[in-house]
Amino acid sequence: MTTEPERRRHTQPLDRASLVSAFCRLGLPRGGLLMVHSSLRSMGHVLGGALTVVDALLETLGRAGTLVVPTFTYPIARERGFVFDPLRTPSLMGAISEAARRHPRALRSIHLQHSIAAIGPLAETIVNSGGETAWDADSPMRQILDRDGQYLLLGVPYQNLTAVHLCEVELEVPYRKPVRIETRMRCADGSLAPLVSAGCPPLPGHPGSDFNRLGQRMEGVGLVRIGEVGNAVARLLGGHDLMHKARELFEADVDGFLRQEGAVTRLSYGHTIKTHRGEHCVADPSRMYSAS
Ligand SMILES: CC(C)(COP(=O)(O)OP(=O)(O)OC[C@H]1O[C@@H](n2cnc3c(N)ncnc32)[C@H](O)[C@@H]1OP(=O)(O)O)[C@@H](O)C(=O)NCCC(=O)NCCS
Repeated sequence: MTTEPERRRHTQPLDRASLVSAFCRLGLPRGGLLMVHSSLRSMGHVLGGALTVVDALLETLGRAGTLVVPTFTYPIARERGFVFDPLRTPSLMGAISEAARRHPRALRSIHLQHSIAAIGPLAETIVNSGGETAWDADSPMRQILDRDGQYLLLGVPYQNLTAVHLCEVELEVPYRKPVRIETRMRCADGSLAPLVSAGCPPLPGHPGSDFNRLGQRMEGVGLVRIGEVGNAVARLLGGHDLMHKARELFEADVDGFLRQEGAVTRLSYGHTIKTHRGEHCVADPSRMYSAS
């Protein structure tokens, strides 16, 4: 449990140094590979906003470390007139992911719906691996899992842990089917070029995902480091552990990643709350950032 003095400290705005301390306490891998799913607002007031969080993540990882963020565009990718531009299309996965995408050293993979951005020595290898795929064995995201990269859920639940989709594809779940989407993308010189993006969307009738169930099971056997970064509940887990536990769950229950009767597993640590933007995992809902 978090102590009272620690809680009081969190009401102060967070600066880069306090973020680095919190990330170190949590056990972020110095010199390692890390993919982050995040909510800025969950953390409480951060001086300098999303960019400060990115700088603190990079400082904690060190120059030998590689930071990866999702820069997905799936919420609008199938809208009429949408053209993916790797250099300019914003990430729709939160302010921290967008700040990382805009970092001068960031490289981005090419995919209509599921691109990622990476900063660090492994960035080029990761974003350039695979071709059309988002989640299967050749994909940029699979590189992170296969290298036993770590995943940080910063103020968001396991529902946002995209790597579980990699497990679903690897385990050949029966409710997803590969598709190829042929569109066009904007090149650096402004011209248009063909873009083929492969994915594995759910079949009609899919009841919705419950990735919290897998996460909660991992927590139950001590495979997740849990802490607080400001007001955000932060969870850190490894790629190989995730795949191993996903396989175990799927072998015990083929519906292991799916909602049962519409419900998502409740997380035992912190508060998981819904806002109009998405879901947030926080120590105290009243201390989420508010502009007023
Ligand atoms: C949707 C989601 C991003 C919303 O989280 P959020 O914290 O509300 O939004 P962001 O992370 O974009 O942060 C922006 C918000 O931070 C807050 N904010 C602004 N300045 C801030 C500061 N200095 N310090 C802290 N918070 C601040 C504001 O509320 C701002 O919202 P606004 O732009 O509408 O004013 C989050 O719930 C989520 O799902 N993240 C994971 C996304 C992902 O990786 N998905 C994977 C596939 S499912």
